[in-house]
Amino acid sequence: MAKVKTVFICTNCGVNSPKWVGKCPSCEEWNTYVEEVITKPTKQEEKSRAWNHDSGSKGSPRPIPLPEIKAGTTQRIVTDDGEFNRVLGGGFVPGSVILIGGAPGIGKSTLLLQLALNLSGTILYCSGEESEEQIKLRADRLGPNQPNCYILTETNTSKILTHAQQVAPQLMIVDSIQTLSSPYIESAPGSVSQVRECAADLQRFAKETNIPIVIIGHITKEGSIAGPKLLEHIVDVVLQFEGDRNYSYRILRTIKNRFGSTDELGIYEMQASGLREVSNPSELLLSQKDEDLSGSAVSATMEGLRPMLIEVQALVATAVYGTPQRTATGFDLRRLSMLLAVLEKRGGLPFGQNDVFLNIAGGIRVDDPAIDLAIVSALMSSLEDIAIPTDICFAGEVGLSGEIRAVNRVEQRIQEADRLGFKEIFISKYNTKGLDTKRYQIKITTIGKIEELYRALFE
Ligand code: TYD
Ligand code: MG
Repeated sequence: MAKVKTVFICTNCGVNSPKWVGKCPSCEEWNTYVEEVITKPTKQEEKSRAWNHDSGSKGSPRPIPLPEIKAGTTQRIVTDDGEFNRVLGGGFVPGSVILIGGAPGIGKSTLLLQLALNLSGTILYCSGEESEEQIKLRADRLGPNQPNCYILTETNTSKILTHAQQVAPQLMIVDSIQTLSSPYIESAPGSVSQVRECAADLQRFAKETNIPIVIIGHITKEGSIAGPKLLEHIVDVVLQFEGDRNYSYRILRTIKNRFGSTDELGIYEMQASGLREVSNPSELLLSQKDEDLSGSAVSATMEGLRPMLIEVQALVATAVYGTPQRTATGFDLRRLSMLLAVLEKRGGLPFGQNDVFLNIAGGIRVDDPAIDLAIVSALMSSLEDIAIPTDICFAGEVGLSGEIRAVNRVEQRIQEADRLGFKEIFISKYNTKGLDTKRYQIKITTIGKIEELYRALFE
């Protein structure tokens, strides 16, 4: 019989200790230790693990001089989903482990089932969350069923990996890591030691068989992937699927990628028949309207490496109560307060007695500082109740003294605005170095200060 042992594990960094500690000596976080019951496998049990290192067909690795390692022989598995390929940096690398996190109901299972149904090779989809019939129902909604897509509803990692060895799929999907349990560990599924052990088993399996594995992970209240931070270290790629549940747009972001850039992102639209790739986001994020309304401005932002034109809407109204309200959707509230303070102090505009509401169209969250200029313009437009023509867009960061600062990749932004038929773009005057304005049809207006922006727009 196996020995029963308990250890205390830091839920933040995964370090363990034989006794409880208030402050983790490794990551210095407080109150992160939880007790876990672990059962050390006996020698025989260890041997019986089908994918065990010693019994692996390749034998144990030996040191090889770098030039002797053949590169370029591994072919990436290119999926049908252009956005997913882009995010991965050109398809799945054989033997890689991809972790995808996201809020409940955002569409992680849908995204991966859809991916599985559109690949021509054999796919193994292991689900610990839904029954076979539920998956079948979902698959029927997503399109024609693929005979090479195998569904396995199992939560025992050993059994999953034994099945996986028999099926020998081209790609394996595990939904979700928190439902898996290793028979060698006694603690509950989803606990730190289970998640860590199962992830390590999956990773070892992937490396030995060269089968890429996609793991779905739940996220915590704070939005990070649940379980030990170690999980993110084990896997090769960490992706985040996000979006506002009340809107249909979803963004697939790369947080870590050992085989590609983390600047790439994929955009999808959730429809009744599954997720649709959005290859041209700007056209969807700009609201179609005929008349010019005050309080709205278009920003030429960048999401990762992709230029995207997004509409910003502001509403400035007289405050009913003593303390004015400030509300922002899709934008950092503290940054909004800062921009309002700059407008008040440097531009002399009376925002102090007004309620301010700000909204970024499409339920998208923007962190690009270049959106500042559009926000400031929308705020001024609403305050003055003068509309900004719909064929003008903005790209610039606003500094604390009211100066308009340069932003990165300005040419790409201008190009996208030009392509979408905008007539004029406002950028910082510090952004013009090396800029060939004659290449574009769009009129490029450069400004240096908030006051100049006000004059250019409203006088
Ligand atoms: P799901 O993939 O189950 O989310 P997760 O695995 O991240 O928890 O997605 C569930 C949501 O997706 C659900 O609210 C309904 C929506 N949905 C559609 O709008 N269209 C579809 O074709 C499918 C399958 C789901
Ligand atoms: Mg799910």
